[in-house]
Amino acid sequence: MVPFAQLCRLWTRGHYKMKLLPHALFLCLALALAWADHHEPHKKDGRDHGRDHGRDHDRGRDNDHGHGHERVRDRCKGIEMDAVAVNEEGIPYFFKEDYLFKGFHGKAELANESFAELDDHHHLGHVDAAFRMHYEDDPNHHDRMFFFLDHKVFAYYQHKLEVGYPKNISEVFPGIPDHLDAAVECPKSECGEDSVIFFKKNEIFHFYVKNKTVDERDFRSMPNCTSAFRFMEHYYCFHGHKFSKFDPKTGEVHGKYPKEARKYFMRCSKFDDDDHEERERCSRVHLDAITSDDAGNIYAFRGHHYIRKDEGNDTLKADTIENAFKELHSEVDAVFSYDGHLYMIKDDQLFVYRVGEPHTHLDGYPKPVQEELGIKGPIEAAFVCEDHHIAHIIKDRHMYDVDLKATPRTAGNKRPISIMKKVDGAMCGPGGVKVFRGNHYYHFESPKLFVAARALPEQHRISLELFGCDH
Ligand SMILES: *[C@@H]1O[C@H](CO)[C@@H](O)[C@H](O)[C@H]1NC(C)=O
Ligand SMILES: *[C@@H]1O[C@H](CO)[C@@H](O)[C@H](O)[C@H]1NC(C)=O
Ligand SMILES: *[C@@H]1O[C@H](CO)[C@@H](O)[C@H](O)[C@H]1NC(C)=O
Ligand SMILES: *[C@@H]1O[C@H](CO)[C@@H](O)[C@H](O)[C@H]1NC(C)=O
Ligand SMILES: *[C@@H]1O[C@H](CO)[C@@H](O)[C@H](O)[C@H]1NC(C)=O
Repeated sequence: MVPFAQLCRLWTRGHYKMKLLPHALFLCLALALAWADHHEPHKKDGRDHGRDHGRDHDRGRDNDHGHGHERVRDRCKGIEMDAVAVNEEGIPYFFKEDYLFKGFHGKAELANESFAELDDHHHLGHVDAAFRMHYEDDPNHHDRMFFFLDHKVFAYYQHKLEVGYPKNISEVFPGIPDHLDAAVECPKSECGEDSVIFFKKNEIFHFYVKNKTVDERDFRSMPNCTSAFRFMEHYYCFHGHKFSKFDPKTGEVHGKYPKEARKYFMRCSKFDDDDHEERERCSRVHLDAITSDDAGNIYAFRGHHYIRKDEGNDTLKADTIENAFKELHSEVDAVFSYDGHLYMIKDDQLFVYRVGEPHTHLDGYPKPVQEELGIKGPIEAAFVCEDHHIAHIIKDRHMYDVDLKATPRTAGNKRPISIMKKVDGAMCGPGGVKVFRGNHYYHFESPKLFVAARALPEQHRISLELFGCDH
């Protein structure tokens, strides 16, 4: 028998290639369930009696009337998760009945092996909803994993149940109903306030962590979610054997959703041998430079390679710099994006590419950085925030501003950066500035707050949280 993990790694790799990470994820879960089913048929049959009483009807499942064994096999074609959340390290945990799947590949485990008490207090063998609280302003709950079972909530810190838990949901999250379908955290940078979004049938509740109040919203275009998940700063609602990516503030679903696992399975039989994606996605080596274009697609540069993460469909591609930006060759110092172009700085030269497939290098470039930006290269990092025409340049522990509409361009407004001696790269988007150093990135609400900061904010792992590496 082919080891499941290996098979799955191969598939996910194929999917990375085809830019279909979320779908690969689904496929692997489907396989994981098939695997579990084959290996523990008696156990499953035995346990299934009575467990799902009422639940299936509640949730409008469509294909759950067979014996346990067949039912699980059905889910291999169309899978429905009970709950999904990342753990303290950002590794995704998927719950299905009493099973737990860690990461995007690997065997199913019994959930009680990791979270023993979920069993003691509950006999149905499922989790209704789960999320990770990750708000530093709330130290009592920071980095806790919360699980919801009927009217109870469990809080775990590093797989240990917190003292006093389980509690009634109404004690910890007043205004939130029992018997939830799904829950997902939504930090200030993405929701305006540190919040938790709860789902029950077609009702959606935004719970504000700070003042413990609830805002009930109508997400008209959203399906009823059976689980919800924040991954790589995107929000996914799972419903039946499908999923949709949604905007946590408005509930809008953009792009072609819902999507189904099986279709992607059919499309995923081609692989090639190089695995730039897998290596670059999970590499711990620092980045040289990073930027996002006007459409929100991210370009990150590391040595001879670059990574592109597409905004619209959240897929990731890696290739050699030589292939896409021939004139640059490798080892860029800083990149920023402005008005449909990528400005790339290497030593004391500026290269300018028009964004598009293929990227075209503008005639007359490279030109000296000094001549083009009014500052002497090399520089460490550069970024432009949305709708502005100011390039913020970081060099030797200082930040400078260059007005890109001025002629000639000059670097002014020099101010010291106190929290970091060195910066690998930085980029700016609707949520603010992300500053990269080593394995991590740090989020600031604006360039001003980055310069003013006196302490490092929470660190995020680049591989895990930006590129979707699962370990
Ligand atoms: C993802 O979106 C990009 C544009 O943002 C597009 O070029 C690419 O083909 C898309 N990939 C898939 C698999 O849909
Ligand atoms: C976990 O659950 C299984 C059955 O579902 C049971 O046999 C096992 O003893 C439980 N393990 C723990 C650590 O509670
Ligand atoms: C929790 O809820 C149960 C059932 O609704 C109720 O009987 C119990 O008194 C509650 N406990 C607390 C501490 O509020
Ligand atoms: C969502 O839940 C509501 C309330 O139970 C129900 O009326 C509606 O049909 C559900 N929608 C879908 C698409 O299942
Ligand atoms: C709680 O906070 C939210 C978000 O800031 C705000 O909209 C709401 O009015 C606040 N509610 C109360 C009762 O203060």
